[in-house]
Formats: sequence, C-alpha cells, structure tokens
Amino acid sequence: MKHTLLNVEEFKTRRLKLLANIPVGSIAFFPAAKEITRSNDTEYAFCQNKNFYYLTGFNEPDALLILIKSNDDQLQSILFSRAKDPLQEIWHGRRIGQEKAKKHYGFDQCYTLEESDEILLERLTDIKELHYCFGDAPNFGECQTFDQQVSQWLASVKAKVRQGITAPHTLVDCSAVINEMRLIKSDAELDIMRQVNDISCAAHQRAMEKTLAGKFEYQIEAEILHEFARNGARFPAYASIVAGGDNANILHYTNNDDVLNDGELLLIDAGGELAGYAADITRTFPVNGKFTPSQRALYQLVLDVQNAVIEQIIPNINFAQLNAFTCEFLTKGLIELGILSGDLTALIEEKSCKKYFIHGLGHWLGLDVHDAGDYQVNKDKQQLRSFEPGMVMTIEPGLYIPLDDDSVDEKWRGIGIRIEDNILVTDQGHENLTKNAPKSIKAIESLMANAKLKLS
Ligand code: GLY
Ligand code: MN
Ligand code: MN
Repeated sequence: MKHTLLNVEEFKTRRLKLLANIPVGSIAFFPAAKEITRSNDTEYAFCQNKNFYYLTGFNEPDALLILIKSNDDQLQSILFSRAKDPLQEIWHGRRIGQEKAKKHYGFDQCYTLEESDEILLERLTDIKELHYCFGDAPNFGECQTFDQQVSQWLASVKAKVRQGITAPHTLVDCSAVINEMRLIKSDAELDIMRQVNDISCAAHQRAMEKTLAGKFEYQIEAEILHEFARNGARFPAYASIVAGGDNANILHYTNNDDVLNDGELLLIDAGGELAGYAADITRTFPVNGKFTPSQRALYQLVLDVQNAVIEQIIPNINFAQLNAFTCEFLTKGLIELGILSGDLTALIEEKSCKKYFIHGLGHWLGLDVHDAGDYQVNKDKQQLRSFEPGMVMTIEPGLYIPLDDDSVDEKWRGIGIRIEDNILVTDQGHENLTKNAPKSIKAIESLMANAKLKLS
C-alpha cells in the first residue's frame, strides 16, 4: 500500500523555522537515537529520536544535525552520519551515506561522524550560544550522554581561547522552541495522521471481529499487529494493551497473556505508527459480543461523556474546562447508577469521580504518543493551554472498578472501560480522526454479531 509521506521541503521549512527562533551567533544540535541492545548481539527495533526526525526525516542511528545561524546571519544545516561501509552494509543493511544525504534530504553539507570533532571545533569558534534539548538523548557516542559530549566539545573549543578565539558562553535548552513547533501540525503531517488513524481503526474493527471467549489476549494483539503491518504501519506506536475483564483495571497492562472469558469486557488500547506518527485509540467491547446490563450502563456513561466532550472542541477551549465538564458529568452519572452517593455539589467539589476515573482526560498526539507541547499547568494542576487549529489530542475518559472493590455493588466489579479518540482542532471546530473505529453499543454489537454469522 502506498502512503503519502513527507517531502524534503517540509523538513527544510522546519529547519528554517527553528533557525528563525534562535539569535544570530548560535548553533543548535540535534542528535539521532542510538540502537539499543535487547540481549547479547540483538537490538530492539530502531526508533529514531523524534526531535531529530522532525527536523531531518533521516532514519539512521548515529547521526547529528547542526543548525548554524552565524554572526553575519548566514543559515546552514549540516548532517553528520555513518560513513558508507560495504562490509557493514552486507551484514546490517544499506547506509544512506553523505552524498545521498545531501542530495535527498536537503542539507547544506554532510560529513561522516568521524569528522565531527574536527568540524565542530571549527564551527563552534566565535559562536555565542549553543542550543540543544537538555536530556533529550540519553546516549551518544561510545558510552556517554549527549550532555557529556557537548561539555567535551566545549572544553576543546575553550582550550583554544589563547589563540584569540571565543567559545560559546551560553547553553540554551531549545526544547520549548521545537515542542511548540511540533504541537501545531502542518497539512502534510495531518495527511499522515489521518492515514495512521484509518489503519488503526481498521485494526480495532478486526479485533472486534476476531474476538471469541476462550481465545487469549495475545491472539487478539496479533490480529491488531497484523492489520497495522499489512497496511504499512509496521510497528505499533506503543506496547498494545489487550486487557480482558479485571485486567482492564491495570492502566498500563501489557502482559496480554490471559484467556478471554465469556461475559467479560475486553479493553484494547493500541495504535500504529506511520512515518513516525502515532495513533492512540482505545475501544472496549464484550468478549461474547453482547453487553450485560451493568456493562451497558457504565459503557453508555463513558461514551456519553466522551461524545459530549468531543462536541465542545473548538479553538480557544482548554483541557481544564473539558476536565471540569467531564468530572461533573461522570459524578452525576455515577450517582444515578448508585456507585456514588451524597450531595452532587459536594461530590464534584471533592473530585470523588477520580476514584473511578483515575487518569487524565487526554494529551497531545503526534510523533510521540504523549506528544511534545506545553499544557500550561497551573498550581491547581489545571491545564490552561487554549486549543488552536492544527493541534491533535486524545480524548479518553474511562471508569475503572477493580474486582476487589467491595465498596460498590458486586455487579460493577471487574469492569474497566476506556474510550479514546484522536481529535484535530480545526478553524471552525474539530475533526474526529478515529470515527471509523466502532464505538456505539449498537455498532459494536451488530459488527460482532455479523462476524459470528460469517464464522458459523
Ligand atoms: N496509550 C497510552 C495512552 O492512552 O495515553
Ligand atoms: Mn491510549
Ligand atoms: Mn492516550
């Protein structure tokens, strides 16, 4: 399957935008990720550093981007990457090399990593400010952090000051600059996010069709991964959560090794990754295809609040307002179901719904599943950042009642529900990128009934 991916102009524009945000006489460093050993001589699937990827589209480990805004306001982008090496390439795969990097990725200059010490020494001379994302790359070079590597380069420049040069005097964390850029998605990024969401919705639909009592959680996980991969999203954006029954009450359950029981719900939180961009979708449905009355009542409450929240998404609203609305809505609903009791105003004030709605309402989404971007949290932990067109976020209310919670009627115990959609803020309102994953009770039950008919 052919996907629309980002072109070189998109990455060049991003680099220029970053350069526009740093003063003359500055250099910004962005290191690539390293491969990480899984065991002995095998590695985990490579995942590029997302800031580096955002600015380069370059998907090899062991590389470094430097962006220069010289004292006379000249702009330059330089990539250091692995040298071509026929023997290494026969064993481990092709390397892009410097020539192709320059031609296809739009850098002004490309060098090998081995050349970096000497060239950086020269480039850092008479530069005033050195920018990088503090702590962003835990490993760089043989056995040191990127912070240590930066200190080493600085020490080398400073060792030359007696020759009449000046060394950078200021280190600046440029995380905020790049985080803000990443928070507002371009049209090209949104094209990819729509594609990865469509693929991920198809995977959730497949999971519903394939679920039967007696199967194991990992078998349904395999269906999800199959649908991601066969559509081009070869890897999941994060470890899939496939949680039957009470396992859904473990928020980051990833063991996925339990049997699925008749009469229980199955919560699946899974999203594919395409061209670096993540989807993050949760659906909860009955293992046997039919909600019990108590599952139905709790599910409908979560679904109603989720739909009502999504309806309110327009520019200028914020997570704090949506959170307050969610808590009020859930508190009322939980009183009606007899799960909470007491005075509505007092229960809202005490945030008593948080006993069952134990995580946040949502988060930014993009290259990372919990994407970059400031939430502008105040002292009361309210997220006051106003939504703007081009932001993408999840809306994911949930209710979790563990099996051992004897403060509620037995019929509610062992039910964990989350419904999570990915929402784009548009000029006029919003677009639900995950509307193709069934979520109404009617849609889920009829999809599962039809799938069973086909099987029989
Ligand atoms: N899948 C992680 C989350 O929903 O935040
Ligand atoms: Mn999720
Ligand atoms: Mn999420």
